[in-house]
Amino acid sequence: MRDILVAGNWKMNGSSTANAELVSGIIAGVPEGRGFSLLVCPPFPYLASVAAQAAGSAVSVGAQNVSEHQKGAFTGEVAPSMLSDVGCEYVIVGHSERRSLYGESSAQVAAKFQATQAAGMTPILCVGETLEEREAGTTEKVIDEQLDAVLDAAGVAAFGAAVIAYEPVWAIGTGVTATPEQAQDMHRHIRGRFEALNADIAASVQILYGGSMKGENAAGLLAKPDIDGGLIGGASLKAQDFLAIAQAAAQN
Ligand code: 13P
Repeated sequence: MRDILVAGNWKMNGSSTANAELVSGIIAGVPEGRGFSLLVCPPFPYLASVAAQAAGSAVSVGAQNVSEHQKGAFTGEVAPSMLSDVGCEYVIVGHSERRSLYGESSAQVAAKFQATQAAGMTPILCVGETLEEREAGTTEKVIDEQLDAVLDAAGVAAFGAAVIAYEPVWAIGTGVTATPEQAQDMHRHIRGRFEALNADIAASVQILYGGSMKGENAAGLLAKPDIDGGLIGGASLKAQDFLAIAQAAAQN
C-alpha cells in the first residue's frame, strides 16, 4: 500500500503572521490515523521560518520552485542546496504556472528534477494538459511528453525517490475538479507507463491529484486506486480546509 501525501502549494500567498497562524492550526489539528503525511510549500522568503515552526511536527516543508544550477551568477534564483539548508524536503517542479507563465521547458523541468534529487530532496513533478489539449484528444500524448523529458534525462530509477502530480490545467483554480473517474484514468495511464519500465517503481511511486481539490471532493478522489494524495492550492490556505482533506486521507 502506498502512503497518501497531502501537500499544500501556497503559491504566492501568505505573510509572517498569516503563515504562523496557518501552520499552528494545521499542527494542532493533524487527524489521527496512519499512512498519510502532510506537506506545506510556502513562498521562498518564508521557508526557513515555516520549517522552524514545523520542526518535530507531522508537517514537512517543500519549495515551489528551484534553480537547476548549483551556484553562481543567476540573479534572483535559489539553489537546491539552499532549500535543503533551510529545511526543505520536497520541491515542486514543472508546475503548469511555471511552464505557462515563465516559459519553463520540459528540458528545464527535467534539470530541476535532477538538481533537486542531487541535493537530497524529493521532487514533485507536475504534469497536466490544458482544456484545448483535452478537447483535441491529446491528453495522454501531452502527459507522455512531459514525463518522457524527465525519464530520458533522469532514468526510471530516479522515480524511486520522486512524486508525480497530475494537475489538469483546466481544473487549477477554476473550481472545476476532475471527476474521480477522469483523474483515475490519467493516474492509471501514468502508472501504466511505469509498469512497462519497472514494476517496483510503478507500484511504489506516489501520484497526487491537483486541481480544485477540497474537503468535499477529497474522499472520492482518494478512494481511487491510483490516486495517492493531493497537491492543493486554494484549499491549503486555511487550516480547516487543509485539515478537511487530511481527514479524508486519514480515513481512506
Ligand atoms: P487549486 O487547488 O487552487 O486548484 O490549485 C491546484 C494547484 O495548482 C496545486 O499545485
